[in-house]
Amino acid sequence: MRKVSFAEFGGPEVLRLLDAEEPHAGPGRIRVAVRAAGVNPVDWRIREGQVLGAHPTVLPSGVGIDAAGVVDEVGEGVTGVEVGAHVFGEGSSTYAEFAVLWAWVRMPEGLTFEEAAGYPSVVETALRVLREVGVMPGQTLLVSGASGGVGSAVLQIARDRGIAVIGTAGAANQDYLRGLGAAATTYGEGWAGRVRQLGSVDAALDLAGSGVIRELVELTGDPRKVVSIADLAAPDFGARFSGVAGSMEDALAEAAGLIARRKLHIPVDKAYPLAEAASAHADSRAGHTRGRRVLVV
Ligand SMILES: NC(=O)c1ccc[n+]([C@@H]2O[C@H](COP(=O)([O-])OP(=O)(O)OC[C@H]3O[C@@H](n4cnc5c(N)ncnc54)[C@H](OP(=O)(O)O)[C@@H]3O)[C@@H](O)[C@H]2O)c1
Repeated sequence: MRKVSFAEFGGPEVLRLLDAEEPHAGPGRIRVAVRAAGVNPVDWRIREGQVLGAHPTVLPSGVGIDAAGVVDEVGEGVTGVEVGAHVFGEGSSTYAEFAVLWAWVRMPEGLTFEEAAGYPSVVETALRVLREVGVMPGQTLLVSGASGGVGSAVLQIARDRGIAVIGTAGAANQDYLRGLGAAATTYGEGWAGRVRQLGSVDAALDLAGSGVIRELVELTGDPRKVVSIADLAAPDFGARFSGVAGSMEDALAEAAGLIARRKLHIPVDKAYPLAEAASAHADSRAGHTRGRRVLVV
């Protein structure tokens, strides 16, 4: 099969589309013929050697954690899914023709593979940060960096729960945020004043890591009501950095339910062929994705 991999840490040019051994589904896993793979910032962070953590990357390494595809192997002990089922979920080395998944859910009716590949990681993250920031129905949540993958999920899940949202994004994405039910303003010089004009906020999320934790604490009046997924300095201000994933199975089930009820739709900003993974990484790293970027196989 063909698979994107890298043999050294570095820029997008280290990615290669190579022939590789097919993986197989061990106990509790399934294998899918990948139709689309989601592109996440963590993918290029790992490629650059930024993500060390508990499981250091062993080179050469495959790329990608999110995928949508057609089940073609069912591992020992797996029930409730059969060869031929259309699923999306999380696994490893998903930028490939075949990948093994350890968490999955059936694709709701009407969802394309390209769309489906964009949901797993960002929905898990959105559900986690909403839980950790403790915002309640009827309250107002401020979301800094609201137009990307995680932001698009947060805004729609919050709306479904009766939480009002004020979001910041670039000038080109103001109408996009409003279309997702949020009040919108631009980031950059004077942004905190513009947020104050839109109303008071009970809790805040930093999804962009643009150095705004101090202002988010001032706007909420309580550092315990501020959570960041992208600024490791958040604890210096008494706020929380969220980096430990919650249950992917629960997140996928909730995502499928929201999609089926037409309460969640994350648009695909751009789809790239597998051979253009390097361009997808460069575009993602530029930091202005609206919704999601995906690779199609
Ligand atoms: N800790 C965790 O568990 C975890 C999990 C998932 C993701 N992350 C991290 O969280 C970040 C967001 O992930 P994502 O998948 O949503 O990324 P994404 O889809 O690439 O979105 C990035 C967003 O950042 C916005 N942005 C750029 N500059 C900004 C600024 N100065 N102020 C406010 N917003 C700005 C962009 O908005 P415009 O296009 O409107 O400019 C864009 O929508 C990434 O750094 C990722 O690595 C962490």
